[in-house]
Amino acid sequence: MKLVSVESLSGNPLLPNAILETLIDYFPKGYSFSLFSKRLITPPSLSSVRVNSALLLSENKGKDFVLETFPNRWKVEQDNLLEDCYTIPLVQSELYHQEMNEQFIKKYNYKFVVVDYRCANSILRGAPIFAAGVIASSKSLCKHDSVLIVCDWNSQCTRGEKIDVNDNSWSQLCAFKEDNPFIFLGIGEVIMERSEIYQQHTKGIAVEVKIPIFDTVQLHSLPKYLFAQNVSSIFIAHLMEVRFDSTILDCCAAPGGKSGHLLNNLLKEIIINAKAEGKDFKEAISQSKSRILALDRQKSKVEDMKNSLWNQFDSLLQYNPKILECKALDSSKLHVHFQPNTFDRILCDVPCTGTGLRPNLQPPSLHPCQTLEALQLQASYQFRIVKEAIPLLKSGGILVYSTCSITAQENEMQVKKILEEFGNKLELMDLPSHLRQNPKYFTTGLTSVLPEHDAIKCLRFDFVECDQTIGFFACRFRAK
Ligand SMILES: C[S@@+](CC[C@H](N)C(=O)[O-])C[C@H]1O[C@@H](n2cnc3c(N)ncnc32)[C@H](O)[C@@H]1O
Repeated sequence: MKLVSVESLSGNPLLPNAILETLIDYFPKGYSFSLFSKRLITPPSLSSVRVNSALLLSENKGKDFVLETFPNRWKVEQDNLLEDCYTIPLVQSELYHQEMNEQFIKKYNYKFVVVDYRCANSILRGAPIFAAGVIASSKSLCKHDSVLIVCDWNSQCTRGEKIDVNDNSWSQLCAFKEDNPFIFLGIGEVIMERSEIYQQHTKGIAVEVKIPIFDTVQLHSLPKYLFAQNVSSIFIAHLMEVRFDSTILDCCAAPGGKSGHLLNNLLKEIIINAKAEGKDFKEAISQSKSRILALDRQKSKVEDMKNSLWNQFDSLLQYNPKILECKALDSSKLHVHFQPNTFDRILCDVPCTGTGLRPNLQPPSLHPCQTLEALQLQASYQFRIVKEAIPLLKSGGILVYSTCSITAQENEMQVKKILEEFGNKLELMDLPSHLRQNPKYFTTGLTSVLPEHDAIKCLRFDFVECDQTIGFFACRFRAK
């Protein structure tokens, strides 16, 4: 057993070799892969929340109301590009550079809570530890103990395992299990009994994170008018330019972050339009023919998404529940269910390899995409969905394509293929002018794949260029 810092992981290959090799092939010469590795294991330097502005508008509440939600010590700011986005800087805590020596570990009586890499990723972004995320813990663990929170990077522990470390055994363990690094994530307080944590149906928080290595605002229980969302994802609804009378299709919608934003903007536009016409907004919502259809292949995800969207927007949806429909459907067979030229706006936020997600403590051996063939298969699947969606777009309508991946195959190569196959129906659309003039979070698409005039119409969120975001890609097309 060896306790190491998150930083020490950056020396390892953090993505499967096949993915790293293809990134090298297409990324610009001189791209800093060492900075890429460092940033891949750390969270973006900004946390962000999106405001459900339709709710505030309907209640005549303003910006101060948002700022008052957060304790003063957080430097919450409204973004100067995206008016519905508020950002909160991430701070390295005093524990970030703490040496993992025996003296420090002894201070916590050798008490550990061990989590898996998924839970570790959430902790690094300000989440508490839910019972399901705990893999193992010290034999003598009790409620209210202060504990060292560590991630079992090599998945060596079995669930419920009792870790028995004390003054006598610590140095022996260090020597024997050198190759099993536990990544130090912070100090927590146990708030559940040990026996309860491992029971099959236990839900809820097992450990509060008291001093995380990265200090950021807790975003897991926000009021209805705020939604935790990455900055790059907040761009999507801005690219969609929803109008009060839009009919919208979200092909791959669960868990519903972007659908929620689209729904918010639709309701907001209906309210603004009603006010401009001197009408009551409740009546305008109830008479609206606008629709948003949020699809996902997995039924259980659709149920959760529907509950989440209704929880946020019940006060407005009650006037017209038909505005939102959530449906379990396979978007690679859209032509079976819909007529051509049906939607004004379509979002294809397609399933992807997730190579832009950060922090990412997933060991590369567990990554679902291990070979170039697997990556190409994923890209073909994404293309099938877009290919089904394109005929459903009305003339003049907007289709946004996005992924949280950074490979050329899932992004620029798809754009190229879409233009080659559907150039008679679609054109790549420029960014809204306010985003183009101040591209602080994103760069252009890869010019190793696309000609310059197309590349500048793409948004590539590259965390080597900008530490404030995850890796992400988006672009938009207009139907001729
Ligand atoms: C990147 S996630 C979407 C995230 C979502 N747009 C959001 O912002 O919350 C991709 C989703 O596509 C769904 N999916 C995969 N294949 C699909 C298909 N053929 N039809 C519809 N949904 C699909 C997955 O279940 C997954 O929930």
